[in-house]
Amino acid sequence: MNQSEFHRQPDTPAPTSTHAASHASAHASAHPLAEPPASLSQTFSGELNGLLPAGSSEAALNPARMPAIPRSPSFDDTFNLAREGYGFLSQRFRSMDSPIFRTRLMLRDVICLTGPDAARLIYDDDRLTRVGAMPQMVLRLIAGKGSVQQLDGAAHRHRKAMFVRMLVEDRTGIDRLVAIFRRNFIERVPDWIRWGAVPLGAELDLILIRTALAWTHAPIDADEIDRDDALLAALAEQAGHFGRRRLTLSLGLAPGLPGWRSALERRLKTAFRQIRRGRQAPLPGTPMAMIAGYLDPKGRPLSPTVAAGELINLLGPIASLGRYILFAAVELERHPEWREILRVPDDRLLTDFSEEVRRSVPFYPFVGAVARTGFDWNGHQIRCGQWLLFDLYGTCHDEAHFHNAGEFRPLRELRHGPDDYSFVAQGAGSVKDGHRCPGEEATLSIIKEGVRLLTTAIDYDMPREQDMSVSLADMPCRPKDGVVISGVRWQETAAG
Ligand code: HEM
Repeated sequence: MNQSEFHRQPDTPAPTSTHAASHASAHASAHPLAEPPASLSQTFSGELNGLLPAGSSEAALNPARMPAIPRSPSFDDTFNLAREGYGFLSQRFRSMDSPIFRTRLMLRDVICLTGPDAARLIYDDDRLTRVGAMPQMVLRLIAGKGSVQQLDGAAHRHRKAMFVRMLVEDRTGIDRLVAIFRRNFIERVPDWIRWGAVPLGAELDLILIRTALAWTHAPIDADEIDRDDALLAALAEQAGHFGRRRLTLSLGLAPGLPGWRSALERRLKTAFRQIRRGRQAPLPGTPMAMIAGYLDPKGRPLSPTVAAGELINLLGPIASLGRYILFAAVELERHPEWREILRVPDDRLLTDFSEEVRRSVPFYPFVGAVARTGFDWNGHQIRCGQWLLFDLYGTCHDEAHFHNAGEFRPLRELRHGPDDYSFVAQGAGSVKDGHRCPGEEATLSIIKEGVRLLTTAIDYDMPREQDMSVSLADMPCRPKDGVVISGVRWQETAAG
C-alpha cells in the first residue's frame, strides 16, 4: 500500500463505559469487598473538622452517606504488585469493577485510581503533593535526593523551568539530541551488516546510552563505558528506568541498599565538585552547563549530589528510549503495510505511528501523590495525608477512550497536549507548572527518528523463530527474545 492508496480512518472512541465514567460510587457500595461506610466515618470524622475546604459537598460533610471505596482482598499487595507488574492495577480495577480501590503497599494505606478524572486529580498540585508520595528509599532509587520530582510549589516551578528550557523550549536542543542519536545508529550499521544476526534491544540500549552522554556533555565518554563494566552496568540499569529490579528494591523486597547507582553518581558528583572549584568548565549551553550553572530562587547553586541527581534525571530516561524503538520494530513486523507506508517520508503519519507506540508500550506504570488536605472527590472522601497511586499504563489502555485499546492502531491520530487526560503515558496537565514529564517531545522525536531509520535507512529481516511476546509481569517490559534482526543492509537511497 502506498500513501495515495491509503485512507485515513481515525478510530472513534467507544461510548463512555460505566468503568471509565469514574462513578465508582454507583457500584462500589454494593461490592462485597467494600468497606462499611461506618468504618469510614469512624476513621475520618475526627480529621474532617477544619480540613475540608469551604464548599465541600454535602456527602463530604456527612461521611456516613459517602460511598465506600472497594478494598483489595489482600491484607497487603506489595508482593502481588511486584509479581504482576503492569497488570496489577488493571486487574484489580477490573475485578472490582471500579476505577478506584483501596489497598496497602509496604503496609501503607493507598487509594489506587485510574482514568481521566483521576489524572486531573493527580496532577492538581493545589490538592496534592509529590512530597512523601514514595518512601525516601524509593526516591533514592528512582530519582536522586532533592531532585525536581520531590519539590513542590515555587521551588518546583523554578527548578522545572531549567528542564523545560532544555527539553521543551529549545527546539535546537532536541534537534541536536536527534542528530546525535542518528549518527550513533548509523555508525553501528556496518557492524550489523557483518554480523548477520543483531540483538536489536542491546544495540539500541548502547546507542542511547552513548547518545545521552554526548547530548548532556556528561564527563564520561563513549570509549570509557566500553572499558568500565561498573559504569556501563550503572548506565544500563538507568535504561531500565522503572524496572522490576528497581520496583522490587523500592518496595523493600530486596535486601540492603544497592550499589548500582553509586559508580555513576560518584563520577558525576566529582565532576560537579570540580566545576564548583573552577577546575573544569562545562561547554556553555549544554545540559551539563545548565545544571552546573543553575541557581535556586535564593541564588544558591545545587549541591554536587543534587546536581548529579538532576543529570541522572536526563541520562536515565534517554538511555531507556531504545525500548520504544524495539517495540516499534515489532509493530512494523506485525503491520508490514506500515513499513511500506513509512518508507515515503510523511511527518504526520510518522507522528501517528510513534504516538501510538508511546500509548501502547508498557513503560512508566504509575505515579504517586499525597493529599495536602482533606477533600471530596467524585463522592469519595480523601483525607489529608492520604497516599494515592494513579495508573498511567491502565489509563492509556482504557476502552472508554481508546477503542480496542489492546490493539496497535496508529490511525487514532494521537497528539499529546495539556488538555488530554487520557493519553497520559508521561503524565498529564501542564509541563511548566506541574509534574508532567518534560521529556515528551524529546521521546517522541527519538521514536520518530528510530522508526525513520528502520524504514528508510536500512532493510532487514526478522527471523521467525523468536519469541516476540511480552509479559506485563516483566519490568522492564520487553519482547521475550529481545528482538533479533538479520540480513541488515542499507537501503539504496541511504547507502550513499
Ligand atoms: C528524554 C527523555 C526524558 C527525560 C529527559 C525525562 C525527564 C523527566 C523529569 C526531569 C521528570 C520530573 C518532572 C517533574 O517532577 O516536574 C519527569 C517526569 C516524568 N517522566 Fe520523564 N523523562 C523522559 C522520558 C520519559 C519516558 C520515556 C517516560 C515513560 C513513560 C517518562 C515518564 C515520566 C512520568 C510519568 C513523569 C511524571 C512523574 C510524576 O507525575 O510525578 N519520562 N521526566
